Amino acid sequence: MPSDRASLETLAQRLAPRLRGRVLVVTGAGVSAESGIPTFRGAGGFWRKMSPQRLATPEAFQRDPALVWQWYGERRDGVRAAAPNPAHHAIATLGSMAAELLVVTQNVDDLHERAGTRADQLVHVHGEIFRTTCTGCDFATREPLAPSPPPRCPRCRALLRPGVVWFGESLDPAPIARVEAFFERAPCDVTLVVGTTALFAYVVDWATRDGALVEVNPETTPLSARADHVVRAPAGQALPLLFGVPA
Ligand code: OAD
Repeated sequence: MPSDRASLETLAQRLAPRLRGRVLVVTGAGVSAESGIPTFRGAGGFWRKMSPQRLATPEAFQRDPALVWQWYGERRDGVRAAAPNPAHHAIATLGSMAAELLVVTQNVDDLHERAGTRADQLVHVHGEIFRTTCTGCDFATREPLAPSPPPRCPRCRALLRPGVVWFGESLDPAPIARVEAFFERAPCDVTLVVGTTALFAYVVDWATRDGALVEVNPETTPLSARADHVVRAPAGQALPLLFGVPA
């Protein structure tokens, strides 16, 4: 659909009853783009400048932990310097409008929580950039750690690593179980997929499982053809209008 203000307001009226029900929001890097955090695959995205195989794999970390920690140190600084944008705020407000909201994010940043989305409404399926875990034991911390030299575990002295999912690694089963529990509890009224290229099968599966599907993305994605409504606009402009909340 066209994404001018009038069309968005019409769509908002149609969606309003569903938005008061059980709502799933799936977000990707595009939701943080207007906060100045680069996306992965867009122009200027992380993966355009760096080969992911060089940095975001267990093999890269084994080969050169200092380089990988340096990159994550820079990314942590970038996230700290960023602020939530109107899309994050609109999603947080939805949390008090919907009977039940689950935000499933592929993002490792903390902008949803800083906008006010509650921890019980939020699942980070690809981990969290401010979490640090141990490669040798189950130690984990959110304490800020200097990335250089690569930090070591205070318990077992093994190398610590960023608490994110790397290429070639399986997803953590705990967040996945929370998503499945959301679907099992009751039918979902509407799913909004915001700012993701939806390249992973599990993202497509969750997006198309239940309820009306709304895609918010300036670009076409593999999900577009399956969406009931497509909003071709930046999330920070579209979501406040769609949810009827002040930007
Ligand atoms: P991508 O970089 O692949 O896609 C970002 C999407 O956001 C694109 O479809 C853009 O068109 C869209 N976009 C850009 N600006 C936007 C805006 N202002 N509002 C709405 N949409 C906008 O990022 P993801 O799909 O999140 O995984 O990537 C998924 C995963 O691929 C990442 O979590 C990461 C990467 O491999 C891991 O690291 C495991």
